[in-house]
Order: sequence, then structure tokens, then C-alpha cells
Amino acid sequence: KRVVLAYSGGLDTSVILKWLQTEYGCEVVTFTADLGQGEELEPARAKAELMGIKREHIFIDDLREEFVKDYVFPMMRANALYEGLYLLGTSIARPLIAKRQIEIAKMVGADAVSHGATGKGNDQVRFELGYYALNPDIKVIAPWREWDLTSRTKLIEFAEAHQIPVSKDKRGEAPFSTDANLLHTSSEGKVLEDPWDEVPDYVFSRTVNPEDAPDSPETITIDFERGDGVAINGEALSPAALLAKLNELGRKHGIGRLDLVENRFVGMKSRGMYETPGGTIYALAHRAIEQLTLDRGAAHLKDELAPRYAELVYNGFWFSPEREMLQAAVDHSQEKVAGTVRLKLYKGACHVTGRKSPNSLYSEKVVTFEDDQGAYDQRDAAGFIKLNALRLRLLGRRDR
Ligand code: ARG
Ligand code: SIN
Repeated sequence: KRVVLAYSGGLDTSVILKWLQTEYGCEVVTFTADLGQGEELEPARAKAELMGIKREHIFIDDLREEFVKDYVFPMMRANALYEGLYLLGTSIARPLIAKRQIEIAKMVGADAVSHGATGKGNDQVRFELGYYALNPDIKVIAPWREWDLTSRTKLIEFAEAHQIPVSKDKRGEAPFSTDANLLHTSSEGKVLEDPWDEVPDYVFSRTVNPEDAPDSPETITIDFERGDGVAINGEALSPAALLAKLNELGRKHGIGRLDLVENRFVGMKSRGMYETPGGTIYALAHRAIEQLTLDRGAAHLKDELAPRYAELVYNGFWFSPEREMLQAAVDHSQEKVAGTVRLKLYKGACHVTGRKSPNSLYSEKVVTFEDDQGAYDQRDAAGFIKLNALRLRLLGRRDR
């Protein structure tokens, strides 16, 4: 039996690797994705080799461009926000990892895939819905739901018994579970579990404390084409490079921190801390360029669909007909979403200060409070209001 494991190189997935070999008697193929988590990936290779994985069975892939271009940007076109606040940084990465695992399984002739998500969370659902959508016959091994390593202590004992290195911070108050990629870093568990306790400073890793951010604001521009960011300050950038650049700016100005209690798909509430520096700036800018270029009907329909879209991504239904239907509608709406947005970044905040577009629907001539020279006839509004008032007046006569 051969299994493709989503392997980060960290303690938990290293224990899983060993466990699959010893308890399951599997031949393990490791897959480590570079999604811009900002970690060296070569140590994962060395560790896998140390545990006896053949060279040709160690896959380390740079998926950063694909991640931003085909997952993050399409989601941003939809203005997806889960429960009004969460930019879905972890949720959106899982389907891509699942897709690549299934591709590798095919390449190496594996009949199973495995991941390190627990039985309590969303990630198990996202991985596995992805696997099954792309290979209905795949076998899934989810060690956290099966093994008896039910505590941190037992996990570390298993690691030590099998010569898996355990770093010092994993021994004691290993503070929490984290997940990072180009879009965000999330932290959950341990010191964050009481939702009344303020998140300690050391939890934040990719934004400066807004209180320590520069005392003078920084102004930037983002150019959009067909609903996607294409340049910053006039410099054309690939999707991944653009998001990386916004992350740098967001980090410096302390933008994109979020302390959230959310509803997991499995039914429990959890408290998390998110840092989405570039994504926070990007989402605001995308909305700003839509303000000029989207018709009201299209824009308001999008706003109705956005929570549905977000819920699908959160719940792991990326590869579903309903997400694809919504995507088609969203993408159609973005045809004319082009132009430039100017933003000011300052001490944790990000404000739009201007926007312009060759496709703007904004008419200064119509809206002006000065003489509009016949562009708009104010007398038309009287009938418009009168007919809209008709039923309110009939109701009023009856009930008041
Ligand atoms: N609660 C967030 C979500 O469901 C973040 C999950 C973080 N995952 C992790 N393995 N640390 O998208
Ligand atoms: C996990 O349970 O593995 C992380 C949290 C989540 O998936 O929601």
C-alpha cells in the first residue's frame, strides 16, 4: 500500500509519517507545498529522507502563483468574507493541496492519501471533500481520528521513541496551532482558547503592532484589470508577487489583524487570531474599484451571493457545482472592473483615498450639485417617489 501524505515537515506530520509506516505498514510518499508560508522547505526533504522516504517519493512543489492566481484572486473577485470578517486564508489553500495530492497519488500509483488535520476541525472536511471530488475511489487516512496519541505528551513520547526531533517550543506550552500561506497566518488553541483573554503579542508573526507602526502614512496605488490586481504603484506584478508586496506593506503598517470567534462546519465555535496583511488591503481596494465600475443591480446581487460563496469555501465545497456556478456569475461581473485605486496605510488602518477607471459608471455631470445643464431632470423624481409611495400611502390610510 502506498499513501501520499500532506507533509509540512513539522512535528505532527512527522509523527504521522512514522505512524503510517509503523502502524499502517504503508509506503509513504511526502508532498510539501510552498504556498508562501515563508518557511524553508528543504528541511522537510531532509527529515523525510531521514525517515527512509525515497528521493523520488519526496515532492516539494512551489504552488505560490497557482494559489494566488487560481484560488485567492477568484475568491477576492467574489468579495468573500466568512461571517462578515474572515478572509478565508486557510480555507482557500486546502483545495489546492488536495488537488496536488491527488495528482501525485496518480503519478506514483498510490491508492491512499493522508493529512494532519484533527477530527475536530474544518480542515479535515476541506481536504477530504477535495480528495473525493477529484478521485471518488481514493482511500483517506486521517490519523488524528484513528490513533491513540490523544495528548500532546503521548505524541511527543511517540516522536522520541522514533528519533523524531522535537523542538523546545513544542514541549511546553506549544502555544497553538498555526497555519500560514501567502494570504494569511492563523493561530488557534492554548493561550487563545479563552475568548476573553487578549491575544498575547508573541502570537503575531507577520504584522507589526499598529501602535509601533510608522508615524507617517504611506500612500499606494493598485491597478486592476478584469477584477484582478495587476500592478502596485504602477509596477506590473504577477499575482503572487503582488500579494507578497502588499503583505510587506501591510506588515509595516500593522494592517489585517483579526481576533475572531467563528462557527466551524462541524458545529463548534472556535476562537482564532488571523493576520491577513496584504489580503485586507487587496479586498478593500477591490471593493473600491467595483464601486465605480459595477452597476447597482450587479453589485447588490454580488453582495447577496458573497456570503454563500464564502460559506462554500469555508465548508470545503470548492470543487462543487454550486461554487463553480457562483464563480461563473462573479467572473462575468468582473469584465469591466478595471482601473486604479489609491489607498493610505496608517497604524493598522487602510483607507481608500481615490479611485479612477476608464469604465467608470460614475457621472459627475449627472450627480453634481451645481448646474447639470439638463443631464438630469429633477422633476422626474416627483413621479418616481409618488409611485414608490403609493402602497405606503394605501397602507397608511388603512392602518394609521
Ligand atoms: N479556523 C480557520 C479556518 O477554519 C483556520 C484553521 C487553521 N488551521 C490550522 N490547521 N491551524 O479556516
Ligand atoms: C485542525 O483541526 O486540524 C485545525 C483546525 C481546523 O481545521 O478548523
